[in-house]
Amino acid sequence: MPAGFQGQRVVAFESRSAEEMASLICRHDGVVQLAPAMAEAPLEQNLGAIRFGERLLRGEVSVAVFMTGVGTRTLMEVLQTRYRQQDLLGALAGITLIARGPKPIAALRALGLSTVIPVPEPNTWREVLEVMDTSEGCPNLSGLTVAVQEYGTPNRSFLAELRKRGAEVLQVPVYRWTLPSDTGPLCRAIDALIAGTCRVALFTNSMQVSHLFQLAGQQQKADALRRALNTAVTASIGPNCSQALRRELVRVDLEAGQPNMARLVEEASRRTAGRPRGQGPSASTREAVSVEVELERPAPPNYSRLDSSVFMRACRRQTTEYTPIWLMRQAGRYMAEYREIRSRTSFLGLCKNSDLAAEVTVTAAHRLGVDAAIIFADILLIVEPMGLGLTFEEGEGPNIQGVIRSQAEVDRLSEVDPEESLSFVFDAIRKARAGLRSDLPLIGFAGAPFTLASYITEGGGSKNYVHTKELMYRHPGAWDSMMQLISRSVAKYLNGQILAGAQAVQLFDSWAGCLGPEDYRRSVLPYTIQVIESIRPRVPVIYFSTGTGGYLDLVKSTGADVIGVDWRVDLAQAWSGIGHGQAIQGNLDPLVLLGEPGSIAEKAGEILDGVGGRPGHIFNLGHGVLPQTPVDHVLRLVDAVHERSRKFEV
Ligand code: CP3
Repeated sequence: MPAGFQGQRVVAFESRSAEEMASLICRHDGVVQLAPAMAEAPLEQNLGAIRFGERLLRGEVSVAVFMTGVGTRTLMEVLQTRYRQQDLLGALAGITLIARGPKPIAALRALGLSTVIPVPEPNTWREVLEVMDTSEGCPNLSGLTVAVQEYGTPNRSFLAELRKRGAEVLQVPVYRWTLPSDTGPLCRAIDALIAGTCRVALFTNSMQVSHLFQLAGQQQKADALRRALNTAVTASIGPNCSQALRRELVRVDLEAGQPNMARLVEEASRRTAGRPRGQGPSASTREAVSVEVELERPAPPNYSRLDSSVFMRACRRQTTEYTPIWLMRQAGRYMAEYREIRSRTSFLGLCKNSDLAAEVTVTAAHRLGVDAAIIFADILLIVEPMGLGLTFEEGEGPNIQGVIRSQAEVDRLSEVDPEESLSFVFDAIRKARAGLRSDLPLIGFAGAPFTLASYITEGGGSKNYVHTKELMYRHPGAWDSMMQLISRSVAKYLNGQILAGAQAVQLFDSWAGCLGPEDYRRSVLPYTIQVIESIRPRVPVIYFSTGTGGYLDLVKSTGADVIGVDWRVDLAQAWSGIGHGQAIQGNLDPLVLLGEPGSIAEKAGEILDGVGGRPGHIFNLGHGVLPQTPVDHVLRLVDAVHERSRKFEV
């Protein structure tokens, strides 16, 4: 019986222990093709870990589950940047500690924490849960806060089971994985598998599977890859990894008897030896094939990568591989992760807590797979430093106290010094920038002068904008001084956001459409132009308005780089009306997302077809995501836009 890989090419997706993997494959007579599928993102701002530290030291955490050794060590390193080790160890010694396997146990022991409940093999979340249910050392979870140190994507089933047992779950993500910045090795592995020149694939964790399919999907190669893996020897290190493969409809040929690389490679080589040879390199050429070892190192955030991202390129009307998409209100109540954080604080409390605001921003963008993040904040935050009161009543929307309806009241308004009064937004931008994927641009924003003026005069939302129009028509001098003051404040605020790390800014003029063209020209446009002209350093400016389809020529003359339109206009027609010298953003009706998933893709397709792949289109909704929108539908939209827009050659 022949043994080993017999010179066949073997692809392995391992990143961190890639070299060890390569030498194991060589020892079993295989030709190594390394395609690291994951890169560890830098930990500059580990917000989840810090939040855990805070609550741990306040005595609010009863049970902590440690899922990985590296994660456990990293968590402690992050915490020690803020807290004294002595205090942390004291707090940890006083709670129930559970370790998923030997590595986190060793990491805890090394810290002097020896009272740890171990979890038996194969160390999946199911065993963790079993231990929690049956171990005498573990308290009944009901009403307790259980912290879960996470590795990679959170395990939703595990978290749901903990919640079912009445626990408050505190997710503690301590390291994030992204696709490597250079996906070349991975692309070559996909091609080799599809071409049949490589017929053995070794997976050492579940996220490799999702990254691989994510990349293949982007290249319209997911089906071909699935077929290839189903005829190759596809080996998995353990149950989680196998489950991820099966979820992608890939048959798992073998799962390692023990979850380690040596067993995986040995068993895969045995299985390969017993199989008919594929189109791999013949024995005579095998010596000539060199070992391809291509290792990925994590890349720090890099401004040139941001600048060449699909979103930024589209803002500049340059060609892109696919149409970028992001969504207004992409972080909001429709998303469980947002509701979880929001349940612990008020809306304004959330906006003013830069750690949480950054977390909400980053979570939404990464979860949705969109092409830009928008900082979590609100257009109305600026009214407080103007000297007005601002409250958000549950279910009612904003309420502004001290409304402005006369010259005397305008005179009482303060000009905003954002460095002093809105620095929490700048902090949130810095933190979000550090937590975001290094190729994902961050959008800053503010209300446009007219929409802010309407809130300040009405005191909240409005149907007819009676007070706004009254001030505008009856007291034009007061209107002008108020609009001037708002414009100067907004310009300073946006420039501060750019300095803090925003790559582009959007002005929301949500209510401009309540005016006719002449009033817009006279009473809105000059102030909007003033803001846009004051933007320094010059980054792309998006001007979004609704209900202005009747005078897009005026909207165009704001001079914004990107014009955001609502769904009441045909996007392609609107764009030719504006002229293709500016980019366009939009414009799916947000209510389409309440319909069937099939119709979402179809409607998105109609918009893309209308545009026909012309560079400079940024896909978005025509207004914000509504709270009742199913998250799955949003994910479907993002996928549909990416997939469908790829077919246009650039
Ligand atoms: O993800 C993002 O888009 C960033 C966050 C963001 C919010 N508001 C968060 C928010 C952005 C860009 C805004 C802009 C905003 N805020 C606009 C312009 C866009 C638009 O929708 O026209 C306006 C008019 C506001 C003012 C505002 N804030 C209103 C009218 C409301 C109440 C309506 C509602 O949806 O509840 C808010 C509250 C608000 N702003 C929420 C969020 C997530 C919901 C608050 C909550 O959590 O209870």
